[in-house]
Amino acid sequence: MSTSNSEMNGLERPSIAIIVGSTRPGRFSEIPAQWLYERLQGREDLAVRLLDLRDYPMPYFDEPTSPANPNREPFESDAVNRWTAAIGASDAFIVVSPEYNHGYSAVLKNALDYVYAEWNRKPIAFVGYGGVSGARAVEQLRLIAIELQMAPIRPALHLPLAVMAARQQGGDPVDELNQLGDRADALVDDLLWWTEALNTARAR
Ligand SMILES: Cc1cc2nc3c(=O)[nH]c(=O)nc-3n(C[C@H](O)[C@H](O)[C@H](O)COP(=O)(O)O)c2cc1C
Repeated sequence: MSTSNSEMNGLERPSIAIIVGSTRPGRFSEIPAQWLYERLQGREDLAVRLLDLRDYPMPYFDEPTSPANPNREPFESDAVNRWTAAIGASDAFIVVSPEYNHGYSAVLKNALDYVYAEWNRKPIAFVGYGGVSGARAVEQLRLIAIELQMAPIRPALHLPLAVMAARQQGGDPVDELNQLGDRADALVDDLLWWTEALNTARAR
Protein backbone atom coordinates (compact mmCIF):
# COMPACT_ATOMS: atom_id res chain seq x y z
CA MET A 1 0.00 0.00 0.00
CA SER A 2 1.42 3.37 -1.01
CA THR A 3 1.75 6.80 0.58
CA SER A 4 2.21 10.36 -0.61
CA ASN A 5 3.41 13.56 1.07
CA SER A 6 1.92 16.99 1.34
CA GLU A 7 4.49 19.00 -0.66
CA MET A 8 3.02 19.63 -4.10
CA ASN A 9 3.50 22.52 -6.53
CA GLY A 10 5.31 24.39 -3.77
CA LEU A 11 2.07 24.65 -1.77
CA GLU A 12 1.52 22.94 1.52
CA ARG A 13 -1.76 21.06 1.41
CA PRO A 14 -3.47 19.75 4.54
CA SER A 15 -2.22 16.24 5.18
CA ILE A 16 -5.04 13.72 5.67
CA ALA A 17 -4.05 10.28 6.98
CA ILE A 18 -6.26 7.26 6.37
CA ILE A 19 -5.64 4.64 9.06
CA VAL A 20 -6.28 0.98 8.26
CA GLY A 21 -7.84 -0.24 11.51
CA SER A 22 -7.22 -3.98 11.38
CA THR A 23 -4.21 -6.13 10.60
CA ARG A 24 -5.47 -9.71 10.50
CA PRO A 25 -4.94 -11.92 7.45
CA GLY A 26 -7.87 -11.59 5.07
CA ARG A 27 -8.97 -8.31 6.61
CA PHE A 28 -11.70 -6.29 4.95
CA SER A 29 -10.45 -2.90 6.16
CA GLU A 30 -7.87 -2.48 3.43
CA ILE A 31 -10.55 -2.50 0.72
CA PRO A 32 -12.43 0.67 1.79
CA ALA A 33 -9.14 2.25 2.96
CA GLN A 34 -7.49 1.76 -0.43
CA TRP A 35 -10.65 2.89 -2.24
CA LEU A 36 -10.80 6.08 -0.19
CA TYR A 37 -7.06 6.66 -0.61
CA GLU A 38 -7.32 6.47 -4.39
CA ARG A 39 -10.39 8.72 -4.39
CA LEU A 40 -8.64 11.38 -2.30
CA GLN A 41 -5.55 11.26 -4.49
CA GLY A 42 -7.69 12.93 -7.15
CA ARG A 43 -8.26 16.03 -5.00
CA GLU A 44 -6.08 19.11 -5.24
CA ASP A 45 -7.13 20.59 -1.88
CA LEU A 46 -5.40 17.98 0.28
CA ALA A 47 -2.53 15.52 0.42
CA VAL A 48 -3.46 11.99 1.45
CA ARG A 49 -1.36 9.29 3.04
CA LEU A 50 -2.27 5.75 4.00
CA LEU A 51 -1.16 4.56 7.44
CA ASP A 52 -1.39 0.77 7.56
CA LEU A 53 -1.04 -0.62 11.09
CA ARG A 54 0.68 -3.65 9.55
CA ASP A 55 3.58 -1.31 8.78
CA TYR A 56 3.76 -0.32 12.46
CA PRO A 57 3.96 -3.61 14.41
CA MET A 58 3.90 -2.04 17.87
CA PRO A 59 4.11 -4.11 21.06
CA TYR A 60 1.08 -3.99 23.32
CA PHE A 61 1.32 -0.87 25.42
CA ASP A 62 3.34 -1.66 28.54
CA GLU A 63 5.14 1.58 29.30
CA PRO A 64 5.87 2.91 32.81
CA THR A 65 4.59 6.40 31.91
CA SER A 66 1.55 7.65 30.02
CA PRO A 67 2.27 9.12 26.59
CA ALA A 68 0.34 12.16 27.86
CA ASN A 69 3.23 12.88 30.25
CA PRO A 70 5.60 15.33 28.50
CA ASN A 71 8.45 14.05 30.69
CA ARG A 72 8.04 10.41 29.65
CA GLU A 73 11.06 8.33 28.70
CA PRO A 74 11.64 7.94 24.92
CA PHE A 75 10.04 4.84 23.40
CA GLU A 76 12.45 2.04 22.51
CA SER A 77 10.29 0.56 19.75
CA ASP A 78 11.19 1.76 16.26
CA ALA A 79 7.61 1.08 15.14
CA VAL A 80 6.21 3.25 17.94
CA ASN A 81 8.58 6.08 17.11
CA ARG A 82 7.71 5.90 13.41
CA TRP A 83 3.99 5.77 14.25
CA THR A 84 4.25 8.79 16.56
CA ALA A 85 6.11 10.71 13.85
CA ALA A 86 3.50 9.79 11.23
CA ILE A 87 0.69 11.06 13.46
CA GLY A 88 2.63 14.23 14.18
CA ALA A 89 3.11 14.83 10.44
CA SER A 90 -0.66 14.54 9.74
CA ASP A 91 -3.25 17.29 10.11
CA ALA A 92 -6.37 15.10 10.19
CA PHE A 93 -7.39 11.45 10.23
CA ILE A 94 -9.92 9.06 8.73
CA VAL A 95 -9.96 5.77 10.63
CA VAL A 96 -11.32 2.74 8.80
CA SER A 97 -12.55 0.62 11.70
CA PRO A 98 -13.91 -2.89 12.02
CA GLU A 99 -16.30 -3.86 14.81
CA TYR A 100 -15.09 -6.67 17.05
CA ASN A 101 -17.54 -7.76 19.77
CA HIS A 102 -19.41 -4.47 19.54
CA GLY A 103 -16.19 -2.46 19.93
CA TYR A 104 -13.09 -1.42 18.02
CA SER A 105 -10.12 -3.67 17.31
CA ALA A 106 -7.43 -4.12 19.96
CA VAL A 107 -4.67 -3.24 17.49
CA LEU A 108 -6.36 0.09 16.75
CA LYS A 109 -6.83 0.97 20.43
CA ASN A 110 -3.18 0.14 21.04
CA ALA A 111 -2.16 2.49 18.25
CA LEU A 112 -4.39 5.24 19.65
CA ASP A 113 -3.01 4.79 23.18
CA TYR A 114 0.66 5.08 22.19
CA VAL A 115 0.30 8.70 21.04
CA TYR A 116 -0.99 11.77 22.84
CA ALA A 117 0.33 15.24 21.99
CA GLU A 118 0.51 14.43 18.28
CA TRP A 119 -3.25 13.67 18.23
CA ASN A 120 -4.23 16.80 20.17
CA ARG A 121 -6.50 19.41 18.60
CA LYS A 122 -6.78 17.63 15.25
CA PRO A 123 -10.01 16.43 13.59
CA ILE A 124 -10.87 12.79 13.06
CA ALA A 125 -13.53 10.99 11.01
CA PHE A 126 -14.51 7.34 10.81
CA VAL A 127 -15.47 4.70 8.25
CA GLY A 128 -17.25 1.72 9.85
CA TYR A 129 -18.46 -1.62 8.57
CA GLY A 130 -20.07 -4.78 9.96
CA GLY A 131 -23.51 -6.05 10.91
CA VAL A 132 -24.71 -2.56 11.89
CA SER A 133 -22.17 -0.79 9.65
CA GLY A 134 -19.66 -0.45 12.47
CA ALA A 135 -21.94 1.98 14.35
CA ARG A 136 -21.10 0.69 17.83
CA ALA A 137 -17.35 0.73 17.26
CA VAL A 138 -17.46 4.22 15.74
CA GLU A 139 -19.48 5.65 18.64
CA GLN A 140 -16.91 4.30 21.10
CA LEU A 141 -14.04 5.66 19.02
CA ARG A 142 -15.61 9.13 19.16
CA LEU A 143 -15.39 9.06 22.97
CA ILE A 144 -11.74 7.99 22.84
CA ALA A 145 -10.98 10.77 20.38
CA ILE A 146 -12.36 13.36 22.79
CA GLU A 147 -10.07 12.08 25.56
CA LEU A 148 -7.16 12.45 23.11
CA GLN A 149 -8.19 16.11 22.73
CA MET A 150 -9.31 15.55 19.16
CA ALA A 151 -12.36 16.85 17.29
CA PRO A 152 -14.46 13.90 16.04
CA ILE A 153 -16.59 15.28 13.22
CA ARG A 154 -20.30 14.51 12.85
CA PRO A 155 -20.31 12.80 9.43
CA ALA A 156 -19.16 9.18 9.27
CA LEU A 157 -19.23 6.69 6.45
CA HIS A 158 -21.12 3.60 7.63
CA LEU A 159 -20.78 1.00 4.90
CA PRO A 160 -23.93 -0.94 4.00
CA LEU A 161 -23.67 -4.71 4.42
CA ALA A 162 -23.78 -5.00 0.63
CA VAL A 163 -20.12 -3.88 0.46
CA MET A 164 -18.86 -6.77 2.60
CA ALA A 165 -21.36 -9.15 1.04
CA ALA A 166 -20.02 -8.36 -2.43
CA ARG A 167 -16.61 -9.74 -1.47
CA GLN A 168 -18.09 -12.79 0.24
CA GLN A 169 -20.18 -13.55 -2.85
CA GLY A 170 -17.30 -13.17 -5.29
CA GLY A 171 -18.33 -9.73 -6.52
CA ASP A 172 -16.38 -6.48 -6.50
CA PRO A 173 -16.88 -4.42 -3.32
CA VAL A 174 -15.43 -1.40 -5.12
CA ASP A 175 -18.57 -1.28 -7.29
CA GLU A 176 -20.59 -0.93 -4.08
CA LEU A 177 -18.14 1.60 -2.62
CA ASN A 178 -18.37 3.76 -5.73
CA GLN A 179 -22.06 4.25 -4.98
CA LEU A 180 -20.98 5.95 -1.73
CA GLY A 181 -18.65 8.37 -3.49
CA ASP A 182 -20.76 11.49 -2.90
CA ARG A 183 -21.10 10.70 0.81
CA ALA A 184 -17.36 10.13 1.09
CA ASP A 185 -16.67 13.45 -0.62
CA ALA A 186 -19.06 15.27 1.74
CA LEU A 187 -17.32 13.70 4.74
CA VAL A 188 -13.92 14.81 3.44
CA ASP A 189 -15.22 18.32 2.74
CA ASP A 190 -16.38 18.61 6.34
CA LEU A 191 -13.11 17.14 7.64
CA LEU A 192 -11.18 19.73 5.62
CA TRP A 193 -13.24 22.56 7.14
CA TRP A 194 -12.18 21.40 10.59
CA THR A 195 -8.63 20.77 9.45
CA GLU A 196 -8.20 24.30 8.20
CA ALA A 197 -9.85 25.78 11.30
CA LEU A 198 -7.74 23.76 13.71
CA ASN A 199 -4.49 24.18 11.74
CA THR A 200 -5.02 27.94 11.94
CA ALA A 201 -5.83 27.81 15.64
CA ARG A 202 -2.84 25.57 16.47
CA ALA A 203 -0.52 27.88 14.56
CA ARG A 204 -1.52 30.88 16.70
C1 LIG B 1 -13.21 -11.15 16.97
C2 LIG B 1 -14.31 -10.71 16.07
C3 LIG B 1 -15.44 -10.15 16.58
C4 LIG B 1 -16.45 -9.66 15.73
N1 LIG B 1 -17.51 -9.02 16.27
C5 LIG B 1 -18.36 -8.37 15.45
C6 LIG B 1 -19.35 -7.49 15.98
O1 LIG B 1 -19.47 -7.30 17.17
N2 LIG B 1 -20.15 -6.82 15.11
C7 LIG B 1 -20.02 -6.96 13.75
O2 LIG B 1 -20.74 -6.30 13.01
N3 LIG B 1 -19.11 -7.81 13.22
C8 LIG B 1 -18.27 -8.50 14.03
N4 LIG B 1 -17.32 -9.32 13.52
C9 LIG B 1 -17.31 -9.57 12.06
C10 LIG B 1 -16.55 -8.47 11.37
O3 LIG B 1 -17.41 -7.40 11.03
C11 LIG B 1 -15.85 -8.97 10.10
O4 LIG B 1 -15.07 -10.12 10.42
C12 LIG B 1 -14.97 -7.92 9.47
O5 LIG B 1 -14.42 -8.43 8.28
C13 LIG B 1 -13.85 -7.52 10.43
O6 LIG B 1 -13.05 -6.51 9.89
P1 LIG B 1 -11.59 -6.85 9.29
O7 LIG B 1 -11.80 -7.95 8.27
O8 LIG B 1 -11.14 -5.59 8.65
O9 LIG B 1 -10.73 -7.31 10.42
C14 LIG B 1 -16.31 -9.83 14.34
C15 LIG B 1 -15.16 -10.42 13.83
C16 LIG B 1 -14.17 -10.85 14.67
C17 LIG B 1 -12.91 -11.45 14.07
